[in-house]
Amino acid sequence: MGTLEKIIQIYNLTDDDISNLASLKDLAKKNANSFVEELHKFISNFDNYSKFLSSEEIKNRHKEKLKLWFLDLFNAQFNEDYLRKIKKIGEVHAQIGLPSHYVSATMNFIRSFLHSIVLENYDVYHRQEELKLSIDKILDINLDIMTSSYIDENQFYVAKSKIETNIVRL
Ligand code: HEM
Repeated sequence: MGTLEKIIQIYNLTDDDISNLASLKDLAKKNANSFVEELHKFISNFDNYSKFLSSEEIKNRHKEKLKLWFLDLFNAQFNEDYLRKIKKIGEVHAQIGLPSHYVSATMNFIRSFLHSIVLENYDVYHRQEELKLSIDKILDINLDIMTSSYIDENQFYVAKSKIETNIVRL
């Protein structure tokens, strides 16, 4: 079984989830600008925010890419290409040494942001719950894949340090 199928199976990502997410696309578009601004306000409290996002140019580029990632959540395109995109984001973060708990904390913020949008725009309890569950699945999948880039990186470092240990022994 390939990674895509495994993820679909273990997260029980159904066609209903995909269509729930697609039904939120217009609301997401409407809220995309406030999403990136509020998210940056949230992450600006992290130590080293200005070290990682060190100029207006880099901040603006991050906001643009973040907006595309945000809209992609609702694109109903859950395929290998999508997984590759998420993996690449994780790799960029891991390469710049961004602590993985910053990403987890930010995902928590994103979850609350999206839940609030659902609660503000849907008044039937059952529908609210369905939409929130589909949102949770796609965010958990994203976090899982982004975090796996850190694990890969760590394995790389473990491998490297073993070689280094052997060199020292020699
Ligand atoms: C769930 C949370 C986050 C998401 C979804 C996200 C999304 C992204 C995306 C889509 C990219 C572009 C990757 C590429 O070039 O292919 C990126 C890069 C980057 N992210 Fe994040 N990010 C998150 C959290 C953070 C946090 C908390 C920080 C810093 C405090 C951060 C700093 C950066 C930096 C510095 C880059 C490279 C920017 C550049 O030079 O173009 N990100 N992120």
